[in-house]
Amino acid sequence: MKILMVCLGNICRSPLAHGILESKLDPSRFTVDSAGTANYHIGEPPDERSIKVASENKIDISQQRGRQFVISDFDKFDQIYAMDRANFKDLKQMARNEKDLSKLSLFMDSHPDSPFQEVPDPYYGDMSDFELAFDLIESTCERIARNLYSFIENRK
Ligand code: 4NP
Repeated sequence: MKILMVCLGNICRSPLAHGILESKLDPSRFTVDSAGTANYHIGEPPDERSIKVASENKIDISQQRGRQFVISDFDKFDQIYAMDRANFKDLKQMARNEKDLSKLSLFMDSHPDSPFQEVPDPYYGDMSDFELAFDLIESTCERIARNLYSFIENRK
């Protein structure tokens, strides 16, 4: 199965979601990638604050490079997670049909008991905002990983 994490710039939140979910899944069965709805940071490494908070939690995202979401990602991926409602709306507008739409979800919907419904954009914030983003993404990826494994087990 192929999973795509999407935020605005693909340098703060979705690189964390990409690295964290990847660390929880068997690479022979799952592929994880990330992209941004905007073209601001194509080819750039993640924000140094995301690299730092990830590395403090033993996850290396420094080799990732920013890219923009493209329509063909709807064909390539099985599940596409939007970090906030604006990202979700932008993706929804690019969907070509019901099948594309069925692949989209708001990331935090996988963690319904969290007080957060979106991952707040930490870009204009400080390290504490990146730590919050890490914690929300980590706890939600834990649930997503569990759901993905039960999904593929039940499919057998
Ligand atoms: P991200 O954060 O969507 O989590 O990667 C942002 C990164 C860059 C910008 C905005 C948000 N920007 O305006 O450049």
